[in-house]
Amino acid sequence: MSKDRVDLIDIPKSRYIKPCGMCSDTAPLNSVTIVIFGGGGDLSRRKLIPTIYHLFKENLLPAGFSVIGFGSPPDGTDESFRQRVLESMKEFEPDLYEEKSFASFLKHLYFQGCYFDDFSGYELLKKRIDSESEATLLYYMSVHPSFLPVILEQLKRSSLNKPHYDPRIVIEKPFGTNLKTALELNYLLHTCFDENRIFRIDHYLGKETVQNIIYFRFSNIIFEPLWNRNYIDSVQITVAEDIGVEHRGKFYEQAGVIRDIVQNHILQLIAFVAMEPPVGFEPDAIRNEKVKVFNSFRPMSKNYIRDNCIQGQYGPGSVNGEDVVGYRDEFRVAPDSKTPTFFAAKLFIDNWRWADVPFYIRTGKRMPQRSTDIVIRFKKPPLKIFGTECDVLPADLLRLRIQPKEEINMFMNVKYPNDVYRINRINMDFNYKDAFSEKSYPPYSRLILDCLRGDLTLFVREDGIDALWGIVDPIIEQWECMECKTFPNYAAGTWGPESADELLKRDGRLWYTI
Ligand code: BG6
Repeated sequence: MSKDRVDLIDIPKSRYIKPCGMCSDTAPLNSVTIVIFGGGGDLSRRKLIPTIYHLFKENLLPAGFSVIGFGSPPDGTDESFRQRVLESMKEFEPDLYEEKSFASFLKHLYFQGCYFDDFSGYELLKKRIDSESEATLLYYMSVHPSFLPVILEQLKRSSLNKPHYDPRIVIEKPFGTNLKTALELNYLLHTCFDENRIFRIDHYLGKETVQNIIYFRFSNIIFEPLWNRNYIDSVQITVAEDIGVEHRGKFYEQAGVIRDIVQNHILQLIAFVAMEPPVGFEPDAIRNEKVKVFNSFRPMSKNYIRDNCIQGQYGPGSVNGEDVVGYRDEFRVAPDSKTPTFFAAKLFIDNWRWADVPFYIRTGKRMPQRSTDIVIRFKKPPLKIFGTECDVLPADLLRLRIQPKEEINMFMNVKYPNDVYRINRINMDFNYKDAFSEKSYPPYSRLILDCLRGDLTLFVREDGIDALWGIVDPIIEQWECMECKTFPNYAAGTWGPESADELLKRDGRLWYTI
C-alpha cells in the first residue's frame, strides 16, 4: 500500500481537541507595563529584572514595554533604581549581561518610591500609567505576603484594578501559610481581581522538562496503556538540593521544607505524572485534571503521618568536598530550631488509576547533589520464563530527569549475546542537549511571557491551592506541635536520615540514586 493511502486511512481516525493553551506562543503581544511591587528588593534584582532583560534580549517583549519598580526607598528615583539594577545585574548575572543591550533596556525602567500604605504613591503611579499609551498591566508582587492586604486595598482605592487597564497580578509562592491563610488571601484577591487575572506562580511549572511530562504521556500511545496500577509498581520523586538555606534563613525558619518545596513543586510534579488526559488543551481543561488528582490524595490521619512521613534537619557535614555548617548555625536561624529541611513520605492517590500504587517522595537541602528525578518502576512479568535468572532481574524503570540533566532514560533487560539464560540490564537514553539545538527559556522567562499572553495553563487555580494545602496541612500541624529531640538527624552531604531509607526498605524497595 502506498504511503499516501496509509495516511488517508489514518486521518479520519484522529481527532483534534480544543485549542491549545500551551501553544499560543505566536500570538502578538500588546504593549505592557510591568509594575514590580518591591521592585528594589532582592527577588526583583536577582531574578525578575534579569528575566525581563532576558526576554528583551531575545526580542520577546513588545516594543512598547516599561517596568516600574514600586516601593522602598520612598525617595528612590528612576536614576538610582537603574543604577542599583545595573550593579545587581553585573553581580548576579554576569553571563547574561551585555553592556550595549542592557543600556537600552535600562531606558524602559522607572521607579515610583512609596510606602505601600501611602495612597499618594498610587496616585502618582496611576498618573504614569494613564500617561502611557494603552498597555496591559502586570502587577508582580515581589513583597512579603504581609504587605498584600494593604497593596490590594490601595490598588482598589486608586481604581488601578479596573478591567480597562487589563490588569493581571502575579503572586509568588508559598501562597499563604496554610489552608486558612490561603482562603483569606484568595478572598482578598477576589475583592480586587477576577480569578482569570490572578497568576499564582510556581517556577517548577515553567521548566521545559516538567511541561514535557504531559507531552511525553499524551503525544505517544505506547506508555499510556501501561500508565496505571496494573503495570506500575511504584513512583519515586526526588528533589535534592546540595545548597543550604543560603541568605534566606529568616524566611526558611517560617516556611520549612513542606511549605517551601512539597506543597508546590513536588505535588505539581505528581499531578503531571498522575493526571488523566485533559478533555482539551486550554488552561482549565488541564487545571481541572490536576485538581482532581490533588483531591484524590489519601487523607492523612495522625497514625498515617507517624508511619509514613519522615522529617529531617541537616547537621554539619561536607558537600562536594567542602565543609559546611549545620542548619542551626546558618545565618538568622535559631540555635534550637525545629524547622525541617528534609521530607520523605509514602503517599497514595485513591482513584481508579492509582489505587494502592505508592508514590514515594523525598526532598532536602544539603544533599550530595542537585537533582530532580521521577522514576516510574514497572511491575515484573507475570511468569519466570528464563528460569532462576528471573529471580534477580530488576524491574523496568522509566526515569524522567527534570534537572540538572534533562533526560529520559528507560532501563530494561535484554538477552546477552551467545548465552541462552543470561540477561543483561541496558538503558535507552534521550537527552535534550543532544536532541535539540534550541536552548530552553529559563522557567521565569517562560512564565512571565505566559502572564503577558494571559495564558493561565501553568498557573495554579484557586481550588488547586486549597486542595494543595489540604494535603499538607495535617502534617505541618502535627509536626509544629511536636518536639524534635532528634534534630539534626542527617549530616550535610548525605541522602537524609536513615528513617527515610527504612520507609522504603520495609516495602522491599530502595531509593534510586542512579
Ligand atoms: C524555591 C525554593 O521555590 O525553589 C528554594 O524556595 C529552592 O528553597 C528552589 O532552592 C529550588 O528551585 P530549583 O529550580 O533550583 O530546583
